[in-house]
Amino acid sequence: MKTIISDIATYLPSKIVTNDDLSKILDTSHEWIYTRTGIEKRRVSAENELASDLGIAASKKILEQTNLNPLDIDAIIVSTTTADRRFPSCACRIQGAIGASRAFAFDLNAACAGFIYCLAVADSIMKSMNLKNILLVAAETLTKFVDWTDRSTCVLFGDGAGAALLKASNDESKGIIATKLYCDGEEEKYNSILSHSGSQNGNRGYTTMAGRAVFKYAIEDMTLSINEILAENNMTINNVDWIIPHQANRRILESMCKLKGFPIGKVIITTRDHANTSSASIPLALKEKMDEGQVKQGDTLLFTALGAGLVWGSAIVKL
Ligand code: ACO
Repeated sequence: MKTIISDIATYLPSKIVTNDDLSKILDTSHEWIYTRTGIEKRRVSAENELASDLGIAASKKILEQTNLNPLDIDAIIVSTTTADRRFPSCACRIQGAIGASRAFAFDLNAACAGFIYCLAVADSIMKSMNLKNILLVAAETLTKFVDWTDRSTCVLFGDGAGAALLKASNDESKGIIATKLYCDGEEEKYNSILSHSGSQNGNRGYTTMAGRAVFKYAIEDMTLSINEILAENNMTINNVDWIIPHQANRRILESMCKLKGFPIGKVIITTRDHANTSSASIPLALKEKMDEGQVKQGDTLLFTALGAGLVWGSAIVKL
């Protein structure tokens, strides 16, 4: 039995904020942001538009696309670092809003690596619990969790959501081939590389980041996970059609290819229009490139991501 990605849908808030817009409120410029990150614009959710609202919109689209009866959804897993509330979870709100009343539902927070962590968990419970349909939603509103006066962080992030319908299938020729997850919560990485202080700071904390350290760990750790997952599955990069990494920063991806020898022509990069949407960035990139016809059914995809924790990992999936 295999877990396949049967369909994917996305939702982006309507408000577009360009680098030029930011240069009117911050001491920054389009040139600085674009040359260092590849980001040109980002979507910003409205004040009353929460992560679960983005997730509900993406989930409704996938139900429309697939004609799936919501009562046939067995489980909803939501990847988010920006949940509306401490509790209940975004997953519960989405379950209620789409009428998936048979589904159990929970959030999973693995920061920017959340989509890959969720794929691993979904694949595992699909098999161990004998499920048929799992809705995996990645919904993020990081623009609500940055300090808009801190030019070194706020320019990097955007909001968005992706929903993937995962199905149990007897077709062994496609689906999730492998997942590999890592964590290093050593004190410096936990505290100072990338974090949001949350309740440690009376809930008023903002995202803080050591940009150069993130850059370095992203390259080293994503490379490690790519090399290990390929080796463990007797594959090489030649067996992969597309590498779809977490879309934090174009320069991280270009440097990783240059330093580690990955073929840049196989790397999907969509940072320009979305900025860093945390765990929503992989489904957003996948959907965009499927709609453009670049990524096709039958392609072998390698997802890879690193996020706050540090957590990171990779997954190999045949569409
Ligand atoms: N506009 C103009 N100047 C800026 C801006 C800005 N938006 N932000 C910082 N600067 C200034 C700094 O103040 C500094 O000025 P100074 O020299 O007078 O002190 C100067 O630019 C250089 O700052 P650095 O931080 O050294 O710049 P660097 O070249 O390292 O680039 C960047 C910063 C783009 C953040 C880089 O470190 C990077 O790409 N890091 C990866 C971070 C990332 O992508 N994080 C995403 C979240 S993590 C994740 O998703 C995995």
